[in-house]
Parts: sequence; C-alpha cells; structure tokens
Amino acid sequence: MRENVSMSTPARSTSLTDLLLLGQGRDLASERGVSCTGELPEASDPDLISRARAARAALGDRALVLGHHYQRDEVIEFADVTGDSFKLAQAAAAQSSAEYIIFCGVHFMAESADILTSNKQKVILPDLAAGCSMADMATANQVTQCWKDLEEVGVADTTIPVTYMNSSAAIKSFTGEHGGTICTSSNAKKSMEWALSKGEKILFLPDQHLGRNTALDDCVLWNPWKPMGGLTAEEIRGAKVILWRGHCSVHGRFTLESVNEVRKQVPGMKVLVHPECQHEVVAAADVVGSTEMIIKTVEQSPAGSAWAIGTELNLVSRLAKAHPDKKIVFLDKTVCYCSTMNRIDLPHLVWAMESLVDGHVVNQISVAPEVAKFSKLALEQMLAL
Ligand code: 13P
Ligand code: SF4
Repeated sequence: MRENVSMSTPARSTSLTDLLLLGQGRDLASERGVSCTGELPEASDPDLISRARAARAALGDRALVLGHHYQRDEVIEFADVTGDSFKLAQAAAAQSSAEYIIFCGVHFMAESADILTSNKQKVILPDLAAGCSMADMATANQVTQCWKDLEEVGVADTTIPVTYMNSSAAIKSFTGEHGGTICTSSNAKKSMEWALSKGEKILFLPDQHLGRNTALDDCVLWNPWKPMGGLTAEEIRGAKVILWRGHCSVHGRFTLESVNEVRKQVPGMKVLVHPECQHEVVAAADVVGSTEMIIKTVEQSPAGSAWAIGTELNLVSRLAKAHPDKKIVFLDKTVCYCSTMNRIDLPHLVWAMESLVDGHVVNQISVAPEVAKFSKLALEQMLAL
C-alpha cells in the first residue's frame, strides 16, 4: 500500500543551510502547530515514534493515511500514499474500503477527499488550523457578486469557471453549479482547453499566477475588493480569461532576482519552479511543473546536475536528502515553509490516530450535502479530463 517512501531514508544528511545558497538558516523548528482539542503528546516525547507505529498498526486497513509532498518528514514517514493534490484526490476517490482517511495536508484537500469518498468514510485533518491563505482569498459572497457582475455585463452565459483545487468547497460548488471544472497544477492547461471548448471565456479562481502562467495572454485581473472587480465592461468583454486576484504566499516569495543570483553563483544551475510562482519567475525558469512533476524532473536528471527549486521547503529539503549525487538548493534567501502545511506534525498525527484507536473520531471534515452535490460534479469533471 505504501508508496514513495524512498525519499524519507536519506543516503547522507543535508542540512538546511546547505540548501540556502543565497542566505542563512534560522528558526528551523518554527511554525509547529499547537491547536488541538485533546491531550496533544509533547513533540519531545521519546516514545512518539513508537506510539505512532503502534496506533498505525492498530488501525490497519481501517485507515488510509494520505500525505501531501509539502508535509514534514516526520509525517510523510507514516503516509500510505504521498502525492500532489491531484494524485491525493485520485487516491481518495479510488479508496472505498478504509473507514478513516487521515489527510495530512490542508483543509481544502481534506474537504475534497470527503466529497470524493462515500458517506460511510470519515476524513480526518489532524490539525484543524491547517488552512490555506490562497483558498481564503476567494469567499462565496465575493464569487457570487462577481458572477452577478458578469451577468450584468452580459458575459456570464458564455463564461466557464475553472477553479484551482486550492479553494473552499463552497467555491467548488459554485463551479459545478455553473458548468465548470476544478483543476490542479498538473492539469490546468487541459482544464482551460476543455473550458474554452464549452464557452468563450474563463473565470479562473483563485490563483492569478497559475491562471496567468497557463493562459499567458488575453487575461484581466479581477480584484474582489473593488466594484466590478476594478474593471470596465469593455475590459471584461475583451478578455478570454478573468483571473481572480489570489496568490500563494509561499510560492509568491520567489523572485527574478533570486533566479539571476543562483545562475550567477553556480554556472549551469537549472531553475525548476511551481506554476504558482509569479509570471516573471516562471518565464525565466528552465522547467515549470506541479509538485509531482518537480519530483520526477529531479529523479530523472543525471548525477551531477544542479537545481535551484522554487517550491515548498519541506519538499526541496527531502529531494536534496534523497539525491546526494545532485546539487539541490532552495530558490529563496531565507527558510520559508508553508506554515499551515507545517501545522500537521507528529504529535497531531499521533493524537488523531490514537483517538481513532480508542473509538473517538476527532477533527472530522464533513462537507454539507448541499455543498458536496455540485462540488462533486466539478471534481469529477476534473478527474474525467
Ligand atoms: P500541487 O499539489 O497541485 O502541486 O499544489 C501545490 C500546493 O500549493 C498545494 O497546496
Ligand atoms: Fe496554500 Fe500555498 Fe500553502 Fe499550498 S503552499 S497550502 S497554496 S499557502
């Protein structure tokens, strides 16, 4: 059942400072989540790993542990399946027998897993504070208002919503209700092509960078804090893609300056970034791809190759440990994790698993049936692409 475990067993240890070609390491134990309704084990508990192993063994096939690639090593160690958000959605949809899906990722991923699994299965998010600042940048009220404005301008009938997985279930439901699809960074291009075969325009939510990097031209930016998105009716009518003004606070940090700097410091170094990065960074990079694609690119590159990687630091650090024959550095000057991904740590995972073993379902993520109905349509549309 277990996949992708090789990355968690390093051949030699690489320190975080080795990854920081452009700066200095600091605050390595930062952003450890603490919010929990029960007795959270101490991170320093010497029995933590054996408790995790015992609880995992006791749950057996009743549980499936899913781990996003941005999770901490200590959590990935216990994941049955690791993946990017697309692969984990597929894994959840394909899993019909496990009673509990323990989702080590963020809230919108756990919601999607709940929508895609049967009513008998329960999805658990070990720390409820593991949200996503990008998903929070599009609220249901804002999107409803935007759609009303598009109706007023006379373009709603020919506009297809394409919504990034990184969004709340309410926004996914809006998407399904209006004939759109969900996408992830691995299928954004395919999703946009599908949408343009169904309509004339795309409303792309909520990540402007993924939308811009995929669509490239004829885009306008919708600012949800301004009347009519801050656009004129002509601008809206003339655009092929209306990008929502949201972004990822982690991928948004990588700069063109850093790309130029790493290339200057290490001639021959290639730059590999996620499409959530700003357009100028993506345009200057050698390779652009989803989290899963970043991993494959490094795995398939020859020994001795050098990569500066612009994605979440837990993954970059794990790639560096798994590939000691390659030079891998982080494309930023400072240590920067996704703070919400990092909230899921071993104490929270142990607490969630031990609670399940004791018969207490904690931190269940449950999407209301009326929201799940259209969200499921939009998610299934993506899985069928
Ligand atoms: P993927 O998992 O689709 O690469 O997305 C990256 C991300 O930011 C997840 O939160
Ligand atoms: Fe959200 Fe960015 Fe963190 Fe992904 S990496 S969970 S998009 S803040």
